Amino acid sequence: VLARPGVADLAGRHVVVSAGGTREHLDPVRFLGNASSGKQGYALARAAAARGARVTLVAANTSLPDPAGVDVVPVVSTEQLRDAVLTAAKDADAVVMAAAPADFRPTSHSGVKIKKRADGTVDPVALEQNPDILATLAHDRPRAGQVVVGFAAETGDETGSVLELGRAKLARKGCDLLVVNDVAGGAVFGADENEAVILGADGAETAVPRAAKRVLAHAIWDQVLLRTTHAR
Ligand code: CTP
Ligand code: CA
Repeated sequence: VLARPGVADLAGRHVVVSAGGTREHLDPVRFLGNASSGKQGYALARAAAARGARVTLVAANTSLPDPAGVDVVPVVSTEQLRDAVLTAAKDADAVVMAAAPADFRPTSHSGVKIKKRADGTVDPVALEQNPDILATLAHDRPRAGQVVVGFAAETGDETGSVLELGRAKLARKGCDLLVVNDVAGGAVFGADENEAVILGADGAETAVPRAAKRVLAHAIWDQVLLRTTHAR
């Protein structure tokens, strides 16, 4: 895979990238969330802009500088992320879901801070499942010919290896590409480097060895370009 950052091979394209981790608030100060830094999504946005694309970056709770020349849409929750991504996806050539959406949200939200009780009792937190944005995109295809890309961090377990679980997730989601990280050796959250295998629904398998997140970003756009069918 050749990354060609000097070449404007994404000129005339609109791409949407989601980044960061969503938060589901229990009250104004507390939330369910995750440790996604957003670095891989920001690297994707910067790489696409460098290759000439118009880029919408939907950013969930990141604390990274806005990439130059990129339209940044801040969101907090998974439902806000879905609304922003689906709106931006209407005229997009590709959507890359690099964000880590919270899978569950509390069924109720308190407008005021929840206080401790003198008797030490605590109410349980009831949860409901959030919408699956990637599966919705892959199923509905807001624009014909749009390339839909997901990410998966897997450890492998008794039901299958990292790549087997990745293949199953790709099929379940119905997306065109799935970028699979092996996180068995420790978290990639917050790191500046990444390694992954890019799985294609067409059976393609592209291994990207450990390198700066920018290198994986360019390899992903290379695979997206190969599958972009409609004319600019
Ligand atoms: N994703 C999404 N909407 C969700 C959850 C996940 O769009 N509500 C996207 C992520 O952005 C990622 C891909 O789906 O691109 C895979 O996320 P992952 O958490 O691995 O998948 P899940 O279906 O949530 O499966 P799991 O039970 O393993 O968490
Ligand atoms: Ca999940």
